[in-house]
Amino acid sequence: MTATLIRARTLSFSRAPVSLDDTGAFSYQADGALLVEDGLILASGCYAAVKAQAAEDVLEIDHRPHLILPGFIDTHLHFPQMQVIGSYAANLLEWLNTYTFPEECRFVETAHAKRIAGKFFDEMVRHGTTTAVAYCSVHKASADAFFAEALDRNMRMIAGKVMMDRNAPQGLLDTPEMGYDETRAVIEQWHGKGRNHVAITPRFAITSTPEQMSAAEALVREFPDLHVQTHLSENRDEIDFTCALYPDAIDYTDVYARYGLLGPKTLFGHAIHLSEREMDAMSETGSVAVHCPTSNLFLGSGLFPLRRLMNRQKPVRISFATDIGGGTSYSMLRTMDEAYKIQQLQGERLTPFESAYFMTLGNAQALSLEDRIGTLDPGTDADFIVLNMAATPAMALKAEVVTSLADELFLLQTMGDDRAIVETYVAGVAAKTGLNRDPNVS
Ligand code: GUN
Ligand code: ZN
Repeated sequence: MTATLIRARTLSFSRAPVSLDDTGAFSYQADGALLVEDGLILASGCYAAVKAQAAEDVLEIDHRPHLILPGFIDTHLHFPQMQVIGSYAANLLEWLNTYTFPEECRFVETAHAKRIAGKFFDEMVRHGTTTAVAYCSVHKASADAFFAEALDRNMRMIAGKVMMDRNAPQGLLDTPEMGYDETRAVIEQWHGKGRNHVAITPRFAITSTPEQMSAAEALVREFPDLHVQTHLSENRDEIDFTCALYPDAIDYTDVYARYGLLGPKTLFGHAIHLSEREMDAMSETGSVAVHCPTSNLFLGSGLFPLRRLMNRQKPVRISFATDIGGGTSYSMLRTMDEAYKIQQLQGERLTPFESAYFMTLGNAQALSLEDRIGTLDPGTDADFIVLNMAATPAMALKAEVVTSLADELFLLQTMGDDRAIVETYVAGVAAKTGLNRDPNVS
């Protein structure tokens, strides 16, 4: 592939910003550029310096006056729940039993799984999400459909076949042996193929017997480098049910600890109602609490105590996610807007720089993938997005009075969605434009 020079304003973080005036946390170029080739960023910085490193006849794309950020990263969502979004339920367990489990049963049909996988990746690209951490359904074929589509689109994706062997409809249950064997088969077939990563995925303690939790533990021991994803402490009734199912555990977090599932590669969806002891356990093991704001509000699950987790003596690692289809938007911009409001309700705020950091480098660090994604550093994957703060008439009107980068980021977060994503580059290729291309026209 020949090199391409992409010109725009650029913003990339090197660490978490600690305040609104912490300009040392990021690099911003008012006239910046990226030189990309073979799916990687070869050079980044001010336009003149990057241009000087390119061949004279380099293909040049000019996105000015727009802003380039690393591609958004979504650290928790369910690809079989695209048609569950907006299901009218009082709480998590009612929502799961009434809508979500029946919908996931449909993924026994390979054709359905393939169709939804295609739609899923279209939405990721449309919303500027270049890496996502996804739950498939219990059916191995759903993971096959997901990873085949990811490979086809050359996207860096993390996903897992869900392990669940109780407290769900028959059509959605495996067994401890099946959960183990099929997860192993998915790992052998897909992990490391293209940019695919397989995650070990016991859904949550309610839907796994102790025997299946032991099977998950065995997989973690065999494949210690793989990500692990599950749900933790999302809803009070869920917590009570879990503790009743595992009476020997001290608390919900201890259920997972007993099966060796805490650790720096483990992503715990929600983690809203943790005790100090549980937070200590999370912190000591480097486990990640994944905040899913639109889902927490939609299902009435609770207000995530972000500052308590981040600022304690033993801080807990945090990431952010949409949690489609408990979540209500594919957009990480909408997600951070709701995260901001959840903090407001608790007398706290997220700065616009913190939000931009978390959607990119912060989430990459939570996945231990910051050497590949979440930055515009040379040598990393050329996954980046182009943002327009004046994407709608209402945004354009507000943009007239925006005078700083912080205000621009805050406008994008407060009013933006997929319409603010001008382009999504996946491994250096303009994938959002590609979505609209008629396959019959060359
Ligand atoms: N807990 C177990 N499964 C799920 C799920 O699919 N969505 C949410 N929000 N919580 C869960
Ligand atoms: Zn979830």
